[in-house]
This record gives sequence, C-alpha cells and structure tokens, in this order.
Amino acid sequence: MNDKFLQATNFIKSISSTKPKIGIVLGSGLGVFVEQIENKTVISYNDIPFFKKTTVEGHEGKLILGKVAGIEVAVMQGRLHAYEGLPMEEVVFPVRLLAYLGIETLILTNAAGGVNLNFKPGDLVLIQDHINLMGQNPLIGLNDNSMGPRFPDMSNAYNSELNDIMKAAFLSLGHQIQEGVYAGVLGPTYETPAEIKMIRTLGGDMVGMSTVPEAIAANHMGIKVCGVSCITNMGAGIVKQTLKHEDIKDVAAKVMVHFTALLTESIKKIGQL
Ligand code: HPA
Repeated sequence: MNDKFLQATNFIKSISSTKPKIGIVLGSGLGVFVEQIENKTVISYNDIPFFKKTTVEGHEGKLILGKVAGIEVAVMQGRLHAYEGLPMEEVVFPVRLLAYLGIETLILTNAAGGVNLNFKPGDLVLIQDHINLMGQNPLIGLNDNSMGPRFPDMSNAYNSELNDIMKAAFLSLGHQIQEGVYAGVLGPTYETPAEIKMIRTLGGDMVGMSTVPEAIAANHMGIKVCGVSCITNMGAGIVKQTLKHEDIKDVAAKVMVHFTALLTESIKKIGQL
C-alpha cells in the first residue's frame, strides 16, 4: 500500500473499529440513506489525509462507518467528480480507500438522465454495464502492480452474481426490475439533444457524470461492483424541460423510500454471501 493510503487507512482505523465488508457510494440527492446506518462513526472528508473536498451541492462529503442490516459497511456520502477539475487519480481515491479498508463488494449509486424511452423519472435502474465516454481513464499512467494488473478485464465489471441478488431484492420488495447500460460523460454541462440521440444509438440507456471511473478503479483492485441509477430526468430533447440540478435532487429525494428499502435488502443479501 502506498504511503497516502497507509496514512488515510491508519487515520480511519484509529477512529473506528468497523471492518467494512461492503462499500457504498451515494449519488446526488441520495445521501439520506445514511439514516439507516447503525453504530455510526462519521468522518468528514476534510479530516482524512489526502482526501479532496467535494464541491458539489447535494454531496455531503462524509465517510460513515457502521452497520446496515447487521452487516458492517462503509458509506461515502458524496463523491468526487472529474468535472470538479480533479485528476482521475483523486476522483477514485475514495473507492481505493474503501478497497484498502477491506471491502469485498462496492455498490455504486448515482442520479442519471434517462436515455431509454421506456424509463421515466423516479425509476431505479440496475447497472448492467457501462460505456466510458469521459475520454479519460483512472488507470492512465504507471500501473501500481500492488493494486492490480496493467490491463484489467472488464467483461464482468458489474458483477452478474451481484446483479442477480439485486434483482431478487427488487422483486422481493414488489418492484419492477429495470436494467440498463450507463454512459459516463465528463460534464459538467448536461448533454445536448443530439448527444442524447448519439448515446442511445451507441447502446446507452442512461447517462451521468460519475460511476465509470469508480467502477474501473474497483475492478482493477479485484473488488466486485454493482450499481443502481436513479433516473431523475429524461435526457435532453426527449421531453420539453430545462435541466436543473435542484430538480434532479428533488426527484432523487422522492424515491428515497424505495431506494433505501432496495439498498438495505441488497446489503442484507450480499452480506450473507
Ligand atoms: N445528464 C447527465 N448527468 C445527469 C443527468 C443528465 O441528464 N441527470 C442526472 N445526472
């Protein structure tokens, strides 16, 4: 482990004895999930050595360790994005830190624009796969062989076994299952209508400005990944609308009850693996 991660993990271990099995990254407006966590230790990103601050409204900037459904978890409430001007290495620092804290599974969540015309705002969609349209990759540069291989396999990037568990969790809660391919863009502009058409043509079902770098970094380190998108709006040009971050946070807030139930049930099932 390099010195940055050693200092950061030592700091966290000096505050909390939680040994997280599952890591969770909460997307825009989805931070309320942290109310589910028992025996909480809350650590501000500002206090963790080498951790960059998040600058985005709706992203809290706290690492929370504790238990959900009896399973030890580490939850990132708020994430870092490349559009904040951070190098990819900084964007994936939190996920790598979770890996060094010992997680085996990472659940990524995000707010996303619906590209598939069968989706509607408020839908929760299981991420089947991604398309990296960011023009960047967090593994560019010298490879740290202690973390993972130079050319990581991405053919099961969103783990099919975990996806089956998530589907079972959806079903057991009486929800319809939606699945889709997440197209990751750099942002911070929302897409043009032409870009949304392009993404649909390329096979994307939803679009967002996160998740892809984190999924790459976690797969690189051998962590099993799964993800859920909350469709907060239809992509540009599909319906008459002007996209605003405030509205996106509001839609995410409205699905919190479903989202929380799904995540809690999934954690319970994944924790039994
Ligand atoms: N585009 C990109 N990112 C997003 C969107 C969108 O329409 N909605 C929420 N995050």
